[in-house]
Amino acid sequence: MTVKLAIIYYSSYGTNHQMATIAADAAKAAGAEVRLLKARETAPAEVVAGVDAWKAHADATADIPEATAEDMEWANAYLISSGTRFGVMTSQMRAFIDTLGGVWGKGGLANKPVTAMTSAQNTHGGQETTLQSLYTTVMHWGGFVVAPGYTDEIIFKTGGNPYGYSHTQGDDFDDAAKAAIGHQTRRLVEVAAKLA
Ligand SMILES: Cc1cc2nc3c(=O)[nH]c(=O)nc-3n(C[C@H](O)[C@H](O)[C@H](O)COP(=O)(O)O)c2cc1C
Repeated sequence: MTVKLAIIYYSSYGTNHQMATIAADAAKAAGAEVRLLKARETAPAEVVAGVDAWKAHADATADIPEATAEDMEWANAYLISSGTRFGVMTSQMRAFIDTLGGVWGKGGLANKPVTAMTSAQNTHGGQETTLQSLYTTVMHWGGFVVAPGYTDEIIFKTGGNPYGYSHTQGDDFDDAAKAAIGHQTRRLVEVAAKLA
């Protein structure tokens, strides 16, 4: 059975979009069928338009489909990537998750492996709490948290966050960052294949 991976991200300025894209490439290389999807923007259009970098990123990614409940039913694995907002995920990602009551009620979110990534402005800006808050929700789904832990040397070279890859905004996506995202993604795909 094919691994069908929904990669759902939210990004105002492009960081989590870049992380999700790196993960999508790694998942495809690992043999998964991938849908790269964004959480719908909920900020008022005039607010987005008022921040040049935000507007530019929204325009540049306009063709990426918005995640739907149907995508969540279709997938047998999820990778979720959201920036840190005051120590938790973005409200845009939360708003998408809060539309999933119907598919949750049908058991459509249960028994699926999930991993999560985040980014923040500061190295210790709340990455772990953001990922933990996401994983709390996964437990309510009856999902399986597939955190990277310290299962590869690359975790130690990219900040050492065992909850999930976390990027400090403004840092380069160098080979180590790509390798850490690749490792976390492949691990998810491997677990999903075993479960499938
Ligand atoms: C309202 C708001 C709250 C934020 N809270 C935090 C925070 O608590 N810690 C931190 O390090 N960065 C914080 N940031 C910075 C974001 O985490 C950072 O811009 C984000 O990781 C960028 O991701 P993106 O490029 O995918 O949008 C905040 C940004 C905004 C706009």
